[in-house]
Amino acid sequence: MPHTSAASDEQPAGDPNYLVGLDLNGRRVVVVGGGTVAQRRLGLLIASGADVHVISREATPAVEGMATSGQITLELRGYADGDLDGAWYAMTCTDEPETNAAVVEEATRRRIFCVRADNARLGTAVTPATARYDGMSLGVLAGGQHRRSAAVRNALLEALQSGVVTDDSAPVTPGVALVGGGPGDPDLITVRGRRLLARANLVVADRLAPPELLAELGPEVEVVDAAKIPYGRAMAQEAINTALIEGAKAGKFVVRLKGGDPYVFGRGYEELEACVDAGIPVTVVPGVTSAISVPALAGIPVTHRGVTHEFVVVSGHIAPDHPDSLVDWPALAKLRGTLVLLMAVERIDKFAAALLAGGRAADTPVTIVQEGSLRTQRIVRADLSTVADRVRAEGIRPPAIIVIGPTAGFTAGAPENTAAEAH
Ligand SMILES: C[S@@+](CC[C@H](N)C(=O)[O-])C[C@H]1O[C@@H](n2cnc3c(N)ncnc32)[C@H](O)[C@@H]1O
Repeated sequence: MPHTSAASDEQPAGDPNYLVGLDLNGRRVVVVGGGTVAQRRLGLLIASGADVHVISREATPAVEGMATSGQITLELRGYADGDLDGAWYAMTCTDEPETNAAVVEEATRRRIFCVRADNARLGTAVTPATARYDGMSLGVLAGGQHRRSAAVRNALLEALQSGVVTDDSAPVTPGVALVGGGPGDPDLITVRGRRLLARANLVVADRLAPPELLAELGPEVEVVDAAKIPYGRAMAQEAINTALIEGAKAGKFVVRLKGGDPYVFGRGYEELEACVDAGIPVTVVPGVTSAISVPALAGIPVTHRGVTHEFVVVSGHIAPDHPDSLVDWPALAKLRGTLVLLMAVERIDKFAAALLAGGRAADTPVTIVQEGSLRTQRIVRADLSTVADRVRAEGIRPPAIIVIGPTAGFTAGAPENTAAEAH
């Protein structure tokens, strides 16, 4: 008689399956069904290089798109016995139990492992909750408890991405990564940026790089503050370049963590050139630029159908009449779309005057967002005729974005009208 106990009755049965990695590259995989269930599974099959063949009476537009682009082949018809001929692996994802049973039956006869999506226990293979991270595949099976396997997968992935779990055996490749950190909220860095940050030996960070990401770094990681304070002290670009190059030459993996995107008024390309000239390998990781994301977080779309057909991002670090200015302010004044001004707080009176002089209407809506995405975010509304006074009266300080144009007057998406995610 098998040993039982009250406790074991309450325990979920352990997962009995044998977890394996299949080399499907170039191998025929037949998927029966082309609805949303199949659609969700096709991406990974395609990414594994499988020769994916879908048989389904109907297919979602996304599945059809995969066929049109040559990622899969698609036959729009019902399943027939014999369809698994030549397959190494099969999945049946229809909403007809009898069809799914017939596919499993054929697969079993042919000794082909087959996933049955509507009732996993009746198939001969199950798909784990998976994730890919830095050249590894993670897979979790939890005896059919999908929420549990997905939750553990998510937790593992997050632990790896945030550096809580580190892969110490991964060799450090000396070099520099120019990483865009996003507008400030640590959740708004890219997955790749976060992964590389977790591997860094040396981080050279801008003032606008998300501070909470720096707080997550281990004590062994050296952090250099590039302290590029607007309108104030600046560590010379030369010194930053030298820190990057010397760090990499000393065998370190150096992350140059910047606010927003490295190539949007970030001097990222100068740093890339300096590293390339010194023979240092560089990886560029684009970031979520404040130029688009900060307006969005304040509820302002930089484009809107039927309202704006262009948006222009302009640096306000020099005045319109300055001999070094490369901006055609009279031309900007003639546009009807959205103007996004960065680094423009100090000279907003001059920019507003130039736009008004060039013919932009005085009642053009303007929204100013200070410290977008941070807990301290502030939103101030004005129009082109009042913006300079509002900026002064409200004591707006950098970093701030000034959005000018019809969408700057939109309020439906403003934080007070929408569900804000807790930081
Ligand atoms: C030197 S530029 C760097 C821009 C950055 N590379 C990007 O893509 O967002 C700095 C300016 O970006 C804007 N900025 C950056 N982060 C911001 C934020 N969280 N809130 C408001 N403005 C921000 C401000 O105009 C600031 O003066």
